[in-house]
Amino acid sequence: GSTGPAPLQRLGFAAVGKSKADTVLVPPGYQVQVLYALGDPLFADVPAFRNDGTDTQFERRAGDHHDGMEYFGLSRRGQPDPTSSQRALLVVNHEATTDEKLTSFFLHADGGKAALPRPAAEVDKEIAIHGVSVVEIQRHGQRWQTIVGSPFNRRLTPETPMEISGPARGSRWMVTQYSVDGTRCRGTLNNCGTGKTPWGTFVTGEENWFGYFTRRADDDDARNDAREVVALNRYGRKAGAASRHGWETAGEADRYRRFDCSKTGSSADGSDDYRHEINTFGWIVEMDPYNPSAPVVKRTALGRCAHENAVFAPVKAGEPVVVYMGDDARNEYIYKFVSSAPWDPADAQAADRIAVGSKYLDHGTLYVARFDADGRGEWVELSLRNPAVAGYDKFRFESQADVVVHARIAGDAVKATRMDRPEWGGIHPRNGEVYFTLTNNSNRRVEPAKGAELAPDAANPRVYVDMKGDKKQEGNPNGHIVRLREDGGAASTRFVWDVYLFGAQADADRGLINLSGLTDDNDFSSPDGLWFSPYSGICWIQTDDGAYTDVTNCMMLAALPGRVGDGERRTLRYRKADGSEFTVTTYVGRAGEVKRFLVGPPGCEITGIAESPDGRALFVNIQHPGENTRMADVNDPSKYESQWPAKAGYGPGQRPRSATVVITRTDGGRIGT
Ligand code: FEO
Ligand code: CA
Ligand code: CA
Ligand code: CA
Repeated sequence: GSTGPAPLQRLGFAAVGKSKADTVLVPPGYQVQVLYALGDPLFADVPAFRNDGTDTQFERRAGDHHDGMEYFGLSRRGQPDPTSSQRALLVVNHEATTDEKLTSFFLHADGGKAALPRPAAEVDKEIAIHGVSVVEIQRHGQRWQTIVGSPFNRRLTPETPMEISGPARGSRWMVTQYSVDGTRCRGTLNNCGTGKTPWGTFVTGEENWFGYFTRRADDDDARNDAREVVALNRYGRKAGAASRHGWETAGEADRYRRFDCSKTGSSADGSDDYRHEINTFGWIVEMDPYNPSAPVVKRTALGRCAHENAVFAPVKAGEPVVVYMGDDARNEYIYKFVSSAPWDPADAQAADRIAVGSKYLDHGTLYVARFDADGRGEWVELSLRNPAVAGYDKFRFESQADVVVHARIAGDAVKATRMDRPEWGGIHPRNGEVYFTLTNNSNRRVEPAKGAELAPDAANPRVYVDMKGDKKQEGNPNGHIVRLREDGGAASTRFVWDVYLFGAQADADRGLINLSGLTDDNDFSSPDGLWFSPYSGICWIQTDDGAYTDVTNCMMLAALPGRVGDGERRTLRYRKADGSEFTVTTYVGRAGEVKRFLVGPPGCEITGIAESPDGRALFVNIQHPGENTRMADVNDPSKYESQWPAKAGYGPGQRPRSATVVITRTDGGRIGT
């Protein structure tokens, strides 16, 4: 539970300015230590990282593109201890890799082969830098260090054996050559946001996994199941789609060929080809960081989509466990899962934590959110009990396995609200209100034309035209943060909502764009990571911005929000090309105090955050610094967009590396207060 002191009234630091510098900038009185970067060894027999493209054994090193992250305290004797601020396991997602034309060029000495077929030696490295790290860390005074060779250290990769649980277990959708009974699968991919369960396990969201699969141009005809074609189209794999890295071309081995999800065999169930491998991704995956021998489990009851994070409501004895999740793609949905089993506080101390996960995460009800124009909303059930799902004419749902594997299609069936890319969810520790970042949406239009374009609505009310040079950009490029308060407890199906904060440039029009009245101390674009400190109650907001990088690198802000409904109703007026007008009414919350706390190096995204329970150390991930470097310049450091963290004195070479940093106060005090 939340054990912090009285709620903060003011943020106790001076805002940092926008910055383009190749450094991690924090307020006066704070310091930044690089702790754990791409390639750092997890085991004593792994050679030190050279950072010149010759390194191997990434399945035993830190992976790439550090993303969501959770802190699991350890006692002095190495037992689970959520109160420990001295020793812990840091569990870090490694989402993706910096690439150009197929190749993850910083991993290869000469940039790698940017054409098909891809060499196996390169692909082996690229596969291994994806997944999750568990790394033990310890504090020594103000400094933290990773413990190389800790028995807790481990990596999950796209090849780690996992269990499938929940409604999709054993269903036809999960049948593969690897598991003909559809109960097991291999690995996790594109691990984005994270979550921490009330029973002390880690969950990771699989986000843009579909891009790793290729699908042959004639595959629609090859399939004799119309539902499979509908599903693949809805989940981003139209026939003829190319894979992001071409891993499927690296050889005849199963571990490469599985990334071609075309139907090539003749079996009815898919056990003689790789057509269903793709269905084993897109889940919330649970693992027990304290027990390396416990199974890793895909929790299919929570639905399949481009999962960002999973945030658990505070548990109450006798009431269901509730988890909120965003699907990060343009026009996608926000979901909630409510367990069938009521919470038993004894489960917080259980030794078999994965068994507890099965109790709460395999049986329950999946909902999707509808935000109505009157400021209210509803969680709509996704199951055959809902006639809109059972009677949907574009996809014949016959079982809950059908529903969870195709949660997006079920969301379409019930006309859920199509959002401006739902990224992280967070829960206010004092009042239980649920926040979701909506990072941006280039498909929001005053006059939608193509099928994917949408007119503004009350919860996604902003669309404007931005001129960049002579390039016209229409949409909601700066994003916003929506929040909701459940009518009753977290398991309620009705809520009220407003928009807590709109991203915008400080000098933008306050009537149509800068609706939250941001200033030079806090203007930002494209909110993504969002996390409330249980200690200080600070709402930390992290950005992943492409619209605003001419002004500043990505950043992290601290905020002290109020409550749903503390602001005002606002009516936005839009004019169409023919001169006619229409309005959208929305609900704009009071921004309260918001200050920029950190700005990262060029090309990076700031994502992933965790805190020691005493509130004195904040862990933050710097993802893909130097991402816009060209492959052709891979051996010309003078042309790198960033040389961080080498430039900050960390490690050899000059190639930029994703990394976890620890932020502390020089006086040892509590962060942000
Ligand atoms: Fe992995 Fe939606 O960010
Ligand atoms: Ca994200
Ligand atoms: Ca993002
Ligand atoms: Ca990114």
